[in-house]
Amino acid sequence: MSASSPAVFAFTLWTSYLWLLAAGHSRVNPRLIVPFQGEKRFSYEKNETQTVFYHEDGHPALLVGGKDKLYYFDFENSGNYTEDFFPGKPSEHCDDQANYLTFIDKVNDGILVCGTNSCQPTCWHWENHQKSFAGDGRGLAPFTPSQNALVLVDGTDIYSTHKKHLYNGKIPRFRRARGSGELYTSDTAMQNPQFIKGTVIQRDTPYDGKIYYFFREDNPDKSPEAPLLVSRVAQLCKGDRGGSGSLSSSKWTTFLKSTLACVDPATKGNFNSLQDIFIVPSEETWKETRVYGLFTNSWGDSAVCIYSIGEIDRVFQTSKLKGYNEPLPSFRPGQCSSERTPSETFRIADGYPEVEDKVQPINQKKAPLFHNKYHYKKIGVHEVQAVNGETYNVLYLVTDKGYIHKMVEMPHGVLNIMEIQPFQNRVPVQSMTLDHIRAKLYLGSDTEVVQVPMDMCEMYGNSCDECVLARDPYCGWRAGKCTSVYGNWSLLQNLSTESSQEVCPSYKKQEGDSRESYHNVTVAVFSRYYLRCPVESHYATYKWFHNDHCVQTCNTTHRPCIHFIENVTQDQYGCYICVSEEGGYTQTLVKECMVKQPEFMRLQWNRATTTSCCSLMLLMVFVLLFFLRD
Ligand SMILES: *[C@@H]1O[C@H](CO)[C@@H](O)[C@H](O)[C@H]1NC(C)=O
Ligand SMILES: *[C@@H]1O[C@H](CO)[C@@H](O)[C@H](O)[C@H]1NC(C)=O
Ligand SMILES: *[C@@H]1O[C@H](CO)[C@@H](O)[C@H](O)[C@H]1NC(C)=O
Ligand SMILES: *[C@@H]1O[C@H](CO)[C@@H](O)[C@H](O)[C@H]1NC(C)=O
Ligand SMILES: *[C@@H]1O[C@H](CO)[C@@H](O)[C@H](O)[C@H]1NC(C)=O
Ligand SMILES: *[C@@H]1O[C@H](CO)[C@@H](O)[C@H](O)[C@H]1NC(C)=O
Ligand SMILES: *[C@@H]1O[C@H](CO)[C@@H](O)[C@H](O)[C@H]1NC(C)=O
Repeated sequence: MSASSPAVFAFTLWTSYLWLLAAGHSRVNPRLIVPFQGEKRFSYEKNETQTVFYHEDGHPALLVGGKDKLYYFDFENSGNYTEDFFPGKPSEHCDDQANYLTFIDKVNDGILVCGTNSCQPTCWHWENHQKSFAGDGRGLAPFTPSQNALVLVDGTDIYSTHKKHLYNGKIPRFRRARGSGELYTSDTAMQNPQFIKGTVIQRDTPYDGKIYYFFREDNPDKSPEAPLLVSRVAQLCKGDRGGSGSLSSSKWTTFLKSTLACVDPATKGNFNSLQDIFIVPSEETWKETRVYGLFTNSWGDSAVCIYSIGEIDRVFQTSKLKGYNEPLPSFRPGQCSSERTPSETFRIADGYPEVEDKVQPINQKKAPLFHNKYHYKKIGVHEVQAVNGETYNVLYLVTDKGYIHKMVEMPHGVLNIMEIQPFQNRVPVQSMTLDHIRAKLYLGSDTEVVQVPMDMCEMYGNSCDECVLARDPYCGWRAGKCTSVYGNWSLLQNLSTESSQEVCPSYKKQEGDSRESYHNVTVAVFSRYYLRCPVESHYATYKWFHNDHCVQTCNTTHRPCIHFIENVTQDQYGCYICVSEEGGYTQTLVKECMVKQPEFMRLQWNRATTTSCCSLMLLMVFVLLFFLRD
């Protein structure tokens, strides 16, 4: 469905707050809270507590693997079907006689689906809505459902952390499970790892291509002040050919790991526990591929730190090895090569797999992009081209309470623009995937999947200033409506965090903003006059506008907000409005027109003098009123 088709939902916009988070600051009120329940939804046939999503960018369909079932949902054409994947003959000693589908991905141009198949991991090809047996799935799917798993497909190679045998294999390993020869990590490489995500970065020469994966593990530093967990990035060369000895021939020889640092420089608060990773590839060079790391600290607060693959690579190529004080051999540990790693180099790398330098975030202060009090579980990042031609990164963060926070990365921090409740009930979000081309989010709970558009511009109401001040890069003002940028049309938009009032044509053109709604006051020429605006919030700024020009800006030091006119001259007549602005939200508080004391009033006074006595009193009252006004 296209972005302009009518949304099939009802919503109420019940409150509006500001949430501007500069790096290091954490005011945590989302601007817009949207009890929005998805644009389109599909329900599972039964509750699915364990799901895997497969989605191809630009396609409206989503494949979901659940327990004994594969679901196909087409959000554009409402097409949907379910295919049973019941387990084969039940195996002995298996506690969970079900087939949890845990893997769906494109392998060699076809879709491969793998599941637990009652403790006998199995894979199937999935073509034209038909499944066909694709063989033993050990290493690609677990024996029983497991949260701690990573499977990474790169052409014909598949990397995985699933164990290959039901009973042995307690030590978690990262292996090349399919493709150019099996390799696995040494037993000492990781301590109780919790795997988060992996990626393959291609280089000019194939053997130089690297695999990076991200995980948490037990901190080897057991000192009382050290956190229990550390977050890591590990590297491996795609062209690794294993060791030369018989014991090491199946071991990765290029494994190294480093710590991902995410520390608030102001408080030294350490966000040590990696929760999720989102990779944003660069069109320019592999070095600029950005890695968004979502971390929490021991209090459950969250932070996002951004790293670059270039910096990660530099750390692995230049750092000393932790605990190894001899000079390094000329063939460095972790070096990719078309040759086998020399055994001496492998011996050192295997004994000292951690590099001393930590990977620091890319921004200047080596600081988190932001941190706050929410406990986020997942992160997604979408790039959107705003009206000014610049690309903005928009973060979608899933809270532990089942909300989505939408934030825009700005030059000096992030701007939180919306909180979305994707499901009718506040239930946890199990899975999230992004369609970068169609600008949609797919979110799954244990009962349903919903599609949420990224460009929900209707939410910003129907006034230009509300639309523009939302500073949502997906939205702009056009033809009396807050409109999506996905259309070949021009929009009014200004994402500057300074006031951007100038963009909108005029306040007076707003609906319900006719001359009648203004309060008229008659003011004599050359008199003193002031316009007074009440103060409602200490966080807001207040402004007086005269014919669309800002004539007075007030901040916390000016309360109430008064525009004082020393000597009313001809060009100061006209209409004034007082607007309060809190972050992205504006409100018109006072509308007043200064009307010149008309000539006919003097004539009436003259006539009044004929009725002698009262006239003098009337005049005195006027004079009195006039002076009292000051
Ligand atoms: C399925 O989940 C819903 C909401 O999470 C719950 O109300 C319902 O009882 C569950 N049904 C079953 C059969 O577990
Ligand atoms: C799923 O497909 C069936 C017909 O196959 C249709 O009746 C149903 O409305 C579809 N569900 C949704 C949510 O579109
Ligand atoms: C967008 O509109 C302009 C004129 O309004 C036209 O020249 C241009 O080809 C259009 N672009 C697309 C992609 O439709
Ligand atoms: C956006 O607003 C800023 C600050 O008010 C202003 O300097 C800038 O010119 C505006 N940009 C556009 C395109 O109107
Ligand atoms: C103020 O004056 C204008 C015309 O000068 C008139 O249209 C408008 O109704 C007046 N407003 C009120 C509230 O009387
Ligand atoms: C107000 O301005 C007029 C014209 O500039 C001038 O003649 C008059 O003296 C001024 N009045 C005061 C009180 O400054
Ligand atoms: C408030 O206004 C005063 C005077 O115009 C200015 O000196 C001060 O910097 C302003 N404060 C803020 C927070 O903008």
